[in-house]
Amino acid sequence: MFTRNRFLRQFSNQPIRRKLTLLMALSSSVGLILSGVALISYAWNSARSTAIRDVQSVAQISADSTAAALVFGDVVAARELLSALRSKPEVDSACLYTEDGDASALFAQYLQNGVSPCPATAAKVGIHEHLRGLSLVREVEQNGDRIGWLQVQVNLQPLTHTLMVQVGITVAILAASFAVSLGIAWLMQPALAGPILDLAGVARRISESGDYTLRARRLGSDEVGRLVDDFNSMLDQIAIRDRDIETARDALSQQVSEKTAANQDLLEALDRLQQTQAQLVQSERLASLGGLVAGVAHEINTPVGVGVTAASTLQDRARDLEQAYKTDTLRRSDLERFVEVARESSNIILRNLQRAADLIQSFKQVAVDQSSGERRRFDLRNYIDEVLLSLAPRTKKTGHRIVVECPPDLEVDSYPGALAQVLTNFVSNSLLHAFPDGHSGELRISAQRSGDWIELHYSDNGSGIPPQDLKRIYDPFFTTKRGSGGSGLGLHIVYNLVQQILGGTIEAASEIGAGTRFTVRFPAHLKSKP
Ligand SMILES: Nc1ncnc2c1ncn2[C@@H]1O[C@H](COP(=O)(O)OP(=O)(O)OP(=O)(O)O)[C@@H](O)[C@H]1O
Ligand SMILES: [Mg+2]
Repeated sequence: MFTRNRFLRQFSNQPIRRKLTLLMALSSSVGLILSGVALISYAWNSARSTAIRDVQSVAQISADSTAAALVFGDVVAARELLSALRSKPEVDSACLYTEDGDASALFAQYLQNGVSPCPATAAKVGIHEHLRGLSLVREVEQNGDRIGWLQVQVNLQPLTHTLMVQVGITVAILAASFAVSLGIAWLMQPALAGPILDLAGVARRISESGDYTLRARRLGSDEVGRLVDDFNSMLDQIAIRDRDIETARDALSQQVSEKTAANQDLLEALDRLQQTQAQLVQSERLASLGGLVAGVAHEINTPVGVGVTAASTLQDRARDLEQAYKTDTLRRSDLERFVEVARESSNIILRNLQRAADLIQSFKQVAVDQSSGERRRFDLRNYIDEVLLSLAPRTKKTGHRIVVECPPDLEVDSYPGALAQVLTNFVSNSLLHAFPDGHSGELRISAQRSGDWIELHYSDNGSGIPPQDLKRIYDPFFTTKRGSGGSGLGLHIVYNLVQQILGGTIEAASEIGAGTRFTVRFPAHLKSKP
């Protein structure tokens, strides 16, 4: 197996011309050898059967003619009869045996020159082959009874010689025809291998140069011719496909440049959107400052009003006193009542002026924080109260309960303006969205320290946000109150303020009918400016 494989590998590595020549010479030689062998073996077999037939008839004749001599024991007559075989040069010897008890005994013999004498007893009846030729032993009969044996030996060497000459001639013819077929194969192989080699050459040139316009020549209409046709049509298809690929590539690069331009447009649009958003944030801040101013006016109105009333009461009493003094009707009790009213009025005026001053101070702080956007240290509890105070004009009317749970002296170092905006948006949203039926509810702000972080919870017990909306509340312009007070930017701004200014996180949870809760976590002391 191994040698066969190695032979096949070596054979397949030979050039196609050599393979073709070898194959043609080998196949014609094998045919010649086989026919030579068949011819020679046929000649040998027919010569041998002719020789056997000859020896059989010679033995028949000799046995018949010597039977009487054997019966009469006439050795001389028997010898003479046998010597008639001299006319047959191929007969080497004839040995006649008589019966001697159970065995046979030589009776008479004929020997050609140089042939060794007959054996003493007869061999078994039949045909025996030996080196020089073959011998035939048969019974000699008289009236159906066996009276002896005859052994005739034939020399087949002349026949063998003739055969050897024939073999020699055949081998010579074989060698000559091998040479001739080799020559013919050598002459013919260009016709067979030429087109294939041409095809291979074109394929190689194409692969080296990448020039798909080259074509193989068709030298005939046989299988190789069809192969050349197929090869050429394959090249046509490759050329078509190449063109298609080229076109597709052009279209693709065209698309890529269009997409790039579209991308550029998108980037510019995004840029404009971000600018608009920044402007909106700014206007939202201004709007809340506007609300603050309205709140200031409203809140200060009460203490100032009370003060004005107290002052005008005092003024009236002073006028009455002056009148009584001028008309000398002033009594001691009038003076005492006036002093009493003056003390009360001035107390009221002082208290209310103080209250107005406090309010202004708070508003001023929240307003400054919101407009300056600066970072500072502040007390969280106080600051929440100040923010709520600034929202009081809006919250008071609604009757909602506002609960603040925050430990005192919780110092925070961060951006109070951002925190104020976050809380303002939470409260505004509760007022605008959470109690659509006008019921009074509860707004709750709780804050505590948790490690380095402040955890601030804001919740209302209003209508809640449906789950499909809850996912979108931070999206810019998402509002359920478009056209009636909502722009959908409030929580988007809150989200950005918490993340970018306070450096924290925000989460929202809500349950329909139970309310909404926001959890904001931010560092108590910001490490660096965000
Ligand atoms: N406390 C709340 N209760 C019920 N719904 C709320 C609450 N807070 C926010 N929402 C819902 O979330 C939406 C988005 O709120 P966001 O503050 O971003 O916009 P808006 O309040 O509608 O408009 P804007 O605040 O810009 O004036 C609201 O339209 C509302 O549907
Ligand atoms: Mg809002």
